Amino acid sequence: MSEMSVVVAGGCGFIGSHFIRLLLSACPDARILNLDLLTYAGNPANLADLATAPGLAFSRCDIADPDAVRSALTAWNVTPRYVVNLAAETHVDRSVLEPESFLRTNVLGTYTLLELCRGIPGVRFVQVSTDEVYGSLGGAGCFNEDSPLLPSSPYSASKASSDMLVRAWHKTYGLDAVITRSSNNYGPNQFPEKLIPLMILHASSGQELPVYGDGSNVRDWIHVVDHCVGILAAMRQGRAGGIYNFGGDSERTNLQVVNSIVDRICGHRDLIRFVPDRPAHDWRYALDSSRARSELGWRPEVRFEQGLSETIDWYLANDAWWRPILTGEYLRFREQWYGARR
Ligand code: NAD
Ligand code: DAU
Repeated sequence: MSEMSVVVAGGCGFIGSHFIRLLLSACPDARILNLDLLTYAGNPANLADLATAPGLAFSRCDIADPDAVRSALTAWNVTPRYVVNLAAETHVDRSVLEPESFLRTNVLGTYTLLELCRGIPGVRFVQVSTDEVYGSLGGAGCFNEDSPLLPSSPYSASKASSDMLVRAWHKTYGLDAVITRSSNNYGPNQFPEKLIPLMILHASSGQELPVYGDGSNVRDWIHVVDHCVGILAAMRQGRAGGIYNFGGDSERTNLQVVNSIVDRICGHRDLIRFVPDRPAHDWRYALDSSRARSELGWRPEVRFEQGLSETIDWYLANDAWWRPILTGEYLRFREQWYGARR
């Protein structure tokens, strides 16, 4: 078994592609198999700069299909030391409209990967999860890893379910597994259905900026690279059965975030439209990351204002990346979701 042989599920997505880039820069001789179904959110262009990386293999594969996953591993012909699961349906609004694919990929897909790992001696499974499994906070306090799981949306319920499966496979079968839970990521390559890229693209083209409710909901923003550094640390140094929170220490109301983006791009705050709220919209998330700090020596490095400014610049300079994906499937969802909020 090669020491740094890693299956990354979901490597063509936003966080998965940054994770593969980080892994290859930290371990240039790593052997990586990227398993990705290339849903609307999966984009091979996210890895365009790594097209010739010698250790990186790709298989278009549904993680909820055990035969497909097994064949991909057989064709790769390497025994993985790590399996890192970043493949998921990830957009909360879509989970409200069409929950089934969330259950299939996030729950059944995780189950399939866990079963695969059960047959591989010495493998470590890393489940990339989210702060949304903890539910919603009031004005004070923050979640730690012992906080109860109280998911509100079909998305977060599917993520909490998969975390439970990982815990059960660790306890029942002794599978070496680690769970990471981060707050809201931002940075280059994020699909433009999420708040920050959506607002950047709308503000730069003079379109309305749809803010749910009164914009007072709070998210704790973490730069995607800080999150990936945390996943890598948990993968290599985390305790078997351990859970690690990764927060960005950058709580902002949605309205603060949107105002910062508009002010930086065009100054037209009159583009903001307060629209009917998302159902079961969690009011506030905040994470206590002290376990990751003390056990993994991790801390977030990117200041939000700096990271946001660089992210805005990236989107403004990379229309060749986002123009091709603002098509069919995205426009259909946008009409269905935002059309109902006019
Ligand atoms: P994303 O939507 O950008 O990418 C998901 C990737 O998974 C895509 O490449 C897609 O093609 C792939 N995929 C979907 N279904 C699949 C299937 N059945 N089989 C194989 N591949 C499939 O997501 P992201 O934002 O990069 O999130 C990655 C992980 O991190 C998810 O598990 C998510 O829950 C978690 N997470 C995300 C955030 C965030 O703010 N984005 C925060 C915390 C945790
Ligand atoms: O907290 C981690 C989670 O962050 C991840 O697990 C999810 O995969 C990821 O999608 C994200 O979930 P959110 O629902 O917090 O992210 P989103 O970008 O959809 O929304 C951020 C906030 O902005 C949220 O309070 C809803 C609000 N919002 C979002 C959109 C798309 C708006 O007000 N208007 C919008 O148009």
